[in-house]
Amino acid sequence: MSIIFNQNTKTFLLSTPNSSYAVKILENGYLLNLHYGAKLNTTALDELYVRYGSASFCPVMPSGELPGWFSQDLAALEYSSCGRGDFRTNAMQLRRADGTSVSDLRYVNHEIIAGKYSLPRLPATYANTDDEADTLKIFAKDVSSGADITLYYGVFANRDAITRAVSVTNTTDKPIEIEKLASCCVTFNRDDLDMTSFWGHWAKERTPERRPLPHGVSCVGSKRGSSSHYQNPFVILSENEASETAGEAWGFSLVWSGNWLFEADLESHGTVRAVMGVNPTDFGWHLEAGETFYAPEVVMAYSPSGIGELSRTYHKLYRYNLCRGKWRNIERPILINNWEATYMDFNEEKLLSIAKEASELGIEMFVLDDGWFGKRNDDTTSNGDWYVNREKLPDGIDGLAKKIRGLGMRFGLWFEPETVCPISELYRAHPDWILHVPDVAPSLARSEYILDMSRADVCDYIYNVMAETIRSADIDYIKWDFNRNLSEVGSAALEPKRQKEVSFRFVLGTYDVLQRLLDEFPDLLIEGCSGGGGRFDPGMLYYTPQIWTSDDTDAIERIDIQYGTSFVYPPSSMSAHVSASPNHQTGRSSSMKTRGNVAMGGAFGYELDLTQLSQEDKNAIREQVKDYHRFYNVVQNGDYYRLINPYSNRHFCAWEYVSPDKSEVLVTFVVMRWTFRAVKFVKLFGLDGDAVYEDENGKTYSGQVLMSAGLNLSGGYRDGDSIRIYLKKK
Ligand code: GLA
Repeated sequence: MSIIFNQNTKTFLLSTPNSSYAVKILENGYLLNLHYGAKLNTTALDELYVRYGSASFCPVMPSGELPGWFSQDLAALEYSSCGRGDFRTNAMQLRRADGTSVSDLRYVNHEIIAGKYSLPRLPATYANTDDEADTLKIFAKDVSSGADITLYYGVFANRDAITRAVSVTNTTDKPIEIEKLASCCVTFNRDDLDMTSFWGHWAKERTPERRPLPHGVSCVGSKRGSSSHYQNPFVILSENEASETAGEAWGFSLVWSGNWLFEADLESHGTVRAVMGVNPTDFGWHLEAGETFYAPEVVMAYSPSGIGELSRTYHKLYRYNLCRGKWRNIERPILINNWEATYMDFNEEKLLSIAKEASELGIEMFVLDDGWFGKRNDDTTSNGDWYVNREKLPDGIDGLAKKIRGLGMRFGLWFEPETVCPISELYRAHPDWILHVPDVAPSLARSEYILDMSRADVCDYIYNVMAETIRSADIDYIKWDFNRNLSEVGSAALEPKRQKEVSFRFVLGTYDVLQRLLDEFPDLLIEGCSGGGGRFDPGMLYYTPQIWTSDDTDAIERIDIQYGTSFVYPPSSMSAHVSASPNHQTGRSSSMKTRGNVAMGGAFGYELDLTQLSQEDKNAIREQVKDYHRFYNVVQNGDYYRLINPYSNRHFCAWEYVSPDKSEVLVTFVVMRWTFRAVKFVKLFGLDGDAVYEDENGKTYSGQVLMSAGLNLSGGYRDGDSIRIYLKKK
């Protein structure tokens, strides 16, 4: 059992192979976070319980509550709340029916069970068998509001990950307003931490940015209604000296696709409180007597040996304990998507000509992107009218799918389910189905309004129309896109006191439709997308094991984006395509080889007009298709190592995959901007030091030398060149 409770010391010790998390119950029922970090071998941890002599301006508990002097403001509260003199950033704010918001959380009892908890209507990590994870539930009472608070902990026995979630049940007879309910709160008794977050925008997602924590609150988050391109819901705290391969690092990853907030509060006495969860801005939940609200899960991971190891922990966890369904671990089809080949200017003949070429090259699935429905010839109309445009496709989607299958390929289709264009039959029939606020004209983005997914009737409509199309054409794959963020967040179906729930209910509605589709079509592969990687988060990965990483398909740009994405998300989740050269977004020309080498770092596919390619490029594609199958195991199931950081080294980038049994190694090296450097050695990681490896030309290498002295990549290169070295244990 990875969770121990010591009755004498009143301490919980949660342990993974390399980490421990400790919580103590004080005499008055307060819960303290004693430790999160390196593994501990005892529950006798009282020395970790910091007691301050006194501090001015810190309110103290009424006398008699605790022996000696105790101020909430100086305590490492396990789950902090409001109004009792803890002035740091807090995890919870509940407003009582009398309008006040003082909370006072006390332990009641607890439960330790084998297996992993789940959360109603919310995505969360799961255990495949009960021995993979244990659950601790701490039941507490807010003696001020009367609410029951449950703190959930999931401890993965073989991965250095501990998950957290929280629920509130109103056991009083009056309503309670939830104003903030973070999913985790952790205290670090140190002030030497860096924070790394991942900023971006359209076509430039997940750029790592690291800085030392200053005093005060450092926060990142999203108020866009979606996890967003702008900041990803993943943050690393690490000791100042931590590197890719050494030092302590902690990750915080929120399994949620809506508004979120991460706060790190380095307070003046030198401790850091980290809080992560749903963004409290414009959020609220009206909790009637007897109702329960669940906050989404945070996945915390710890590495004693650098940030690379932290990433590998997340990769394994998300690959095997978050993504689900048939496609989780089997080889996914190589696809050809028609978007950058035709955009919306296509007819059946054109699509079939691309599909025919694709099938001859060994590509396994044809995906029809935007423009197949309603009157859609550009992006100003028709979202919502999910019925086929017979002028373009006279035999319908089912007719096209049949012809594609006749070529020996699977068939996939694009939808943007959560939006509607003002020029559409759906909007004309149901103008009240969009998110809107009375007397305020709703804003447009990409000529779209947002459907009110907080409404059951809207979700039913979307589910039915999608399911009917999938059923009628036996569709294998869906690309689920979402091309804008939420504004005028109001619902015609909710009473005023529930309007602050809309953005949260919106995400629940989306999850609900995704789950219903997967229930009816368990073989369906759904790829997430939001104008590229605008909703690349663990919440979506629970339903969609791959996500379109970015609308920027330029191989050199993609190196940065895939590098940033790899800090938490596994290569198998990063959809990556070979597109045309010159690239449509940047105008840069890249060789077919480099485009293939970069795209092969993720869920692989093509997105260009195959009918326009030279014979040489087609031959290269045939080889890439073979390589994808050869390298599938090492890339999709292997350990991933970032070898050269493309942000600090603007000239070169390199990354490595090692198969779980260390018998296969794939190294990719790209010259992003050539500079004359005679010798370039790159140290490899994760190999068998006693083994001899052989490359595809029969040259042999010592595993020990590759890890100690490095792989010699010296050579005369040109801009954009790339090489791929595939080693097998002899
Ligand atoms: C978004 C997606 C693209 C493509 C277009 C279609 O931008 O990210 O891949 O599907 O929409 O409109």
